[in-house]
Amino acid sequence: MALVRFADSAGLADWVASLLLRDRLLRPERPLGLATGRTMEPVYAALARQVNGLPPAERQELRRRWCSFNLDAYVGVDRADPRSFAAEMASRLTTPLGLDPERVHLPDGQAADPHAAAECYAAQLAATGGIGLQLLGLGLNGHVGFNEPPCEADAPCRCLELSPATRQQNAGAFGGDPESVPQQAITLGLREILAAERLLLVVTGAAKAEVLARALREPPTPELPASWIQLHPRALVVADGAAAALLDVNRNPPTAARTASGVAGAGHAADPDLGARRDPGLHASSWPTR
Ligand code: GLP
Repeated sequence: MALVRFADSAGLADWVASLLLRDRLLRPERPLGLATGRTMEPVYAALARQVNGLPPAERQELRRRWCSFNLDAYVGVDRADPRSFAAEMASRLTTPLGLDPERVHLPDGQAADPHAAAECYAAQLAATGGIGLQLLGLGLNGHVGFNEPPCEADAPCRCLELSPATRQQNAGAFGGDPESVPQQAITLGLREILAAERLLLVVTGAAKAEVLARALREPPTPELPASWIQLHPRALVVADGAAAALLDVNRNPPTAARTASGVAGAGHAADPDLGARRDPGLHASSWPTR
């Protein structure tokens, strides 16, 4: 894995958005995997600004070729309900970018049989060949998507029970009451996530520092689903200073330098050599390999 650390969250959001944009412009053959959550709000805002700054022909091409699959959705929350991930994607992505909603896929959390809906979503994704670049956030309990601990590395797309910790973490959108957060969700599994060509884990804020350090430093374990990312040959972790605070890495190493533990050194927005990494994107030579 490699880690890029940013001093400021605005710079981080811009940088991540530029990776997503380049993915869509340069590698549209495979769908983009998307995540929801507070971490991603500034990323989608930056993406909208960047897309709307494109020349009209390029913007049209991007819209024509767009295809994304979201990680997860609550079970039993209407798409039109502002608390649904579908509504979140519509307001933060589909509408601002002028995308065709048919090209922005999410699990069907309203299906009468959510287990069948999960299977159907997995099949729909498999028919595309699987995710190219997968954007990931990190739960306070170490979940990615809604893969709650314990979770094995081959867990498939499924409908599952949300943990009390996750319902607590996401209570803000439900009037602050964890009991109001749906009990179940549909999520892509670690199986589909680890099958993506590239992973991009984005983590911000001091509250995530401990879980991020554990996920990157401890041996992969079902108790910390995000730790399975260590097994991926092309995973990039992007964190702000607060989230990366407990990672013991050199402040200004050469681009993609590896530490003894296998996590590349971090950079930050003021690094003179960040320019070299500003566009690391999607070139095999600069995305981390093992
Ligand atoms: C949520 C979602 C994840 C998200 C993560 C972090 O529960 N299921 O997809 O990435 O937890 O959320 P946040 O960015 O709000 O901290």
